Amino acid sequence: MSKSEANLKEAFAGESQANRKYLAFARQADKEGLKQVAKLFRATAEAETVHALTHLQALKAVGATAENLKAAIAGETFEFTKMYPAMIEEAEAEGEKQALRSFRYANEVEKIHAKLYGKALANPAGLKETEYYICPVCGYTCEDHAPDKCPVCQAAGKMFYSVG
Ligand code: FE2
Ligand code: FE2
Ligand code: FE2
Repeated sequence: MSKSEANLKEAFAGESQANRKYLAFARQADKEGLKQVAKLFRATAEAETVHALTHLQALKAVGATAENLKAAIAGETFEFTKMYPAMIEEAEAEGEKQALRSFRYANEVEKIHAKLYGKALANPAGLKETEYYICPVCGYTCEDHAPDKCPVCQAAGKMFYSVG
């Protein structure tokens, strides 16, 4: 790997994290009634996304959709078969309850993501038209409509939001 390729990967990770962190900071600023600061965080978060995406393009990490679905399935599968199980074990050993809950939720939901991607990969052009609903607590993702209760974290279905 060339030095620039390694640097692009590192910069992509950093910019991606900055994007999510600034969005979390914006929510906090909103809670404090600091609307303009929230807006600044959201604007900067968008700019970090621009940086993340130009780094990703330079890495040539975006292929055709069938290839991208395969990459997505591989990533999700790694997470729920290797990454999160090891992290869950360590959080249990350390008694880190909040980390444990966060890892467990993500671990369960990545399985569902891999399934949804698998379905898409089987027939990308014929994938059923539907809305997707997301649990704001654990990230559980489903088609058609929100459940009464989240099957992963038991949050009320009325908290779900849709991505259409
Ligand atoms: Fe940036
Ligand atoms: Fe996922
Ligand atoms: Fe949930």
